[in-house]
Amino acid sequence: MTANKPVPQRILITGVSGLLGINLALEAVKQGREVVGLANSRTLQNTPFAVRACDLTDLSVIHPLLDELRPNAVVHCAALANLEVCESQPDLAQRLNTETPGRLAAETARRHIPFVHISTDAVFNGASCNYLETDPVSPLSIYARTKAEAEKAVLEAHPDALVARVNFYGWSLSGQRSLAEWFFNNLSGKRQVKGFTDVFFCPMLVNDLAGILLRLLDLHAGGIYHVVGSECLSKYAFGVAVARAFDLDENLITPVTAETGGLVARRSPNMCLNTEKLARTLGGPPPGLASGMERFTRLYREGYPETLRAFNQPGS
Ligand SMILES: NC(=O)c1ccc[n+]([C@@H]2O[C@H](COP(=O)([O-])OP(=O)(O)OC[C@H]3O[C@@H](n4cnc5c(N)ncnc54)[C@H](OP(=O)(O)O)[C@@H]3O)[C@@H](O)[C@H]2O)c1
Repeated sequence: MTANKPVPQRILITGVSGLLGINLALEAVKQGREVVGLANSRTLQNTPFAVRACDLTDLSVIHPLLDELRPNAVVHCAALANLEVCESQPDLAQRLNTETPGRLAAETARRHIPFVHISTDAVFNGASCNYLETDPVSPLSIYARTKAEAEKAVLEAHPDALVARVNFYGWSLSGQRSLAEWFFNNLSGKRQVKGFTDVFFCPMLVNDLAGILLRLLDLHAGGIYHVVGSECLSKYAFGVAVARAFDLDENLITPVTAETGGLVARRSPNMCLNTEKLARTLGGPPPGLASGMERFTRLYREGYPETLRAFNQPGS
């Protein structure tokens, strides 16, 4: 970490139509930064930042794009994040989840600009817990393997890059992307759902994650960081927290143990990550569940979900 370098102000965000990308772009704009976002299949409208369409599986577009846009930092949020699609299209997963970040890392290193790569808690198989950044990865699915390989490719090409292993929830463009939205939508519609009591994770509100990623960028933090919430809980407990935050009926959530139910991709039962390195860098622990849920409900009351949905061009 070197604090005397300039703070990146013109940021290129890939995957800007995704759950993390859109929230990160809005947070960066709120902080007075200039953002250029890259989307792929979706079309955004009336955003307070520039958006370009770009298929990043075509690696040849990356060099001319960076030459043209001249960002002074790149945050790579685009990915094939659907585990089942990764199983059925392993070549696409390998290209987008491993080769694309590797090329972006090489191109940003050549230009001496910071690169933030978004990785996942799923690089671990869950046989243990409270994983440290230095623990060996043990991916179970094609998604997890391609993300784990990306971490290596990124740090080989750009040793100062920040690799953030994340898990997050929040409001999305579609209103249906995150686990919290799934619980909220079903419980609001008074529909019975299942919550896994034996799958553990450390969810962080995406808006909190956005702020922390920008802070880490400003601090020029590099290497692998676990950027997740400070509490480890089951998916069932998370559903109950969503129900309580919105005064919805938590009895609609049936506690069950995880079963694959026709799913092909193997999932880790324990994705709890140690966040002490992050806490040391930030000077305090990352936000916990209560503060995340408080902000999640406040954003709802302020009409943030509708604001997001208005950016999503119908039919895109
Ligand atoms: N959600 C989580 O809790 C979670 C957990 C762990 C790690 N992560 C990681 O966090 C990052 C962001 O995830 P997310 O949930 O925000 O993802 P998401 O909502 O699924 O969004 C994926 C983004 O990638 C873009 N994309 C897909 N194919 C592309 C292509 N060929 N070329 C360029 N862009 C393409 C999509 O663009 P279009 O929609 O326009 O096609 C979209 O903007 C990913 O690296 C993911 O692996 C997420």
